[in-house]
Amino acid sequence: MAQLVAFCAKPICLRNLFSTQAYFTCWPADPCGPRPYKLRISGATGPTEMSEPSEKNKTPIVERKPDEIEPSAASLALKRRIRQQEILAELGVSALHGASFSQLLDDTARMTAEGVQAEFCKVMEHIPTEKHFLVRAGVGWEPGIVGVVTIGDDLASPGGFALRTGQPVISNHLENEERFRTPELLERYGIRRAMNVILQGEGRPFGVLEVDSRSEHEFSRDDIAFLQGAANLLGMAIEHERYERSLKTALERQQVLLKEITHRVKNSLAIVASMLKLQASEVNDPAVIPQLEEAAYRVSAVAKAHERIHQADGPDQLDLGGYVKDVCQDLNDALPTCHIEVAVEPGIMVLPDRAVPIALTANELITNAAKYAYQGNQHGTIWVRLAHSADDMIELSVRDEGRGLPPDFEIRCAPGLGMRIIRALSQQLDATIEVRRLDLGTEFVVTVPCRLSVERQPPD
Ligand SMILES: Nc1ncnc2c1ncn2[C@@H]1O[C@H](COP(=O)(O)OP(=O)(O)O)[C@@H](O)[C@H]1O
Ligand SMILES: [Mg+2]
Repeated sequence: MAQLVAFCAKPICLRNLFSTQAYFTCWPADPCGPRPYKLRISGATGPTEMSEPSEKNKTPIVERKPDEIEPSAASLALKRRIRQQEILAELGVSALHGASFSQLLDDTARMTAEGVQAEFCKVMEHIPTEKHFLVRAGVGWEPGIVGVVTIGDDLASPGGFALRTGQPVISNHLENEERFRTPELLERYGIRRAMNVILQGEGRPFGVLEVDSRSEHEFSRDDIAFLQGAANLLGMAIEHERYERSLKTALERQQVLLKEITHRVKNSLAIVASMLKLQASEVNDPAVIPQLEEAAYRVSAVAKAHERIHQADGPDQLDLGGYVKDVCQDLNDALPTCHIEVAVEPGIMVLPDRAVPIALTANELITNAAKYAYQGNQHGTIWVRLAHSADDMIELSVRDEGRGLPPDFEIRCAPGLGMRIIRALSQQLDATIEVRRLDLGTEFVVTVPCRLSVERQPPD
């Protein structure tokens, strides 16, 4: 190997480096070899010249390419450790990025095998009730192994040994192993050495991570540290998966309970409404009958909201149009002298807290139209319209073609119960009510901001 010795023809300072000539002398390692070369470097742009060897040996000394250099065992081991660190980092990233659980199992098996240069790897899930491990993921195995094959979890199997002792297990000579027997699967594949580490989350162990190899190269202590690192990462992901699963179960249970409660509330309200109707049919006082009936309609309107929550719309929101339509349908059946024409915009989703006061307002306005616009047995139509209006508002209109409002009617101070309820609800909704006296009949237009929630205020 040639040694490089440099000397300068004149002192080099950085400023005039490019105008400077430097001479390098190459000394052959072998003192009996050719005489030294002189290498002159003449500035940045100038060509590099080499003086001719003065003696007969003209064979150039060529640097050997890195791959021709026999790597030392230490550099190989270092390379392997670096790759193992990279693998652990990659696994950590994919676990953090929320790779699916099965993907993570596959990645761990594949990359762990690569990290210790083993042909086989498997993630074995412990199934205590069956007293065995199930091969959940793996590399190197033929089809029909992963997801199918089971291995006993007794102390006499390497996996069982690792699981029960909690200790990583290296067996570089399975054929001479006395601590445990070689499982049939490993024998079938001609496996000579194996390493096992426990896959431990915070709860009970998930199973073991095992790498297997047919080659004679032995697994080292560093390999087992790497394997344990991979197993720890997977253990964290397993814990995360368990946590998510238990959250999902809790959420499902909560939804079932919520449905059940909603269903019960709806049933209870329906019973109350029926009892009020029954009482209305029992009393003889003509002044009390409509009051009991109206009370029943109000309760039914609230019950309808719970029915919709229970059915499809979910606990957080209601399709307001569908809900108002339901309420109108009930009133249509209950008010035989009137026909209710409903036109609602679908897809206006609001919180039940907001939907109920809107539907109750519609209920009051419809019953009033039936009661006062078309008095007695006079037949008439009531038009109900619900739509989004400009500026993110919801507009509810109830119109009739009846006898019109009394001349002294003033919505702000009308003393009747119905109007008091409407005022309280509109205050709760932050809504405005416009009263339109038409040539024929009356129209009430209620404009409600499309807000999601509502502050509860008791009616006055
Ligand atoms: N669509 C309508 N057509 C005619 N009059 C109406 C209409 N709606 C309300 N009114 C009048 O408003 C008054 C107050 O209604 P409301 O407060 O609901 O009373 P009640 O509780 O008796 O139903 C009624 O007595 C009626 O004169
Ligand atoms: Mg009324």
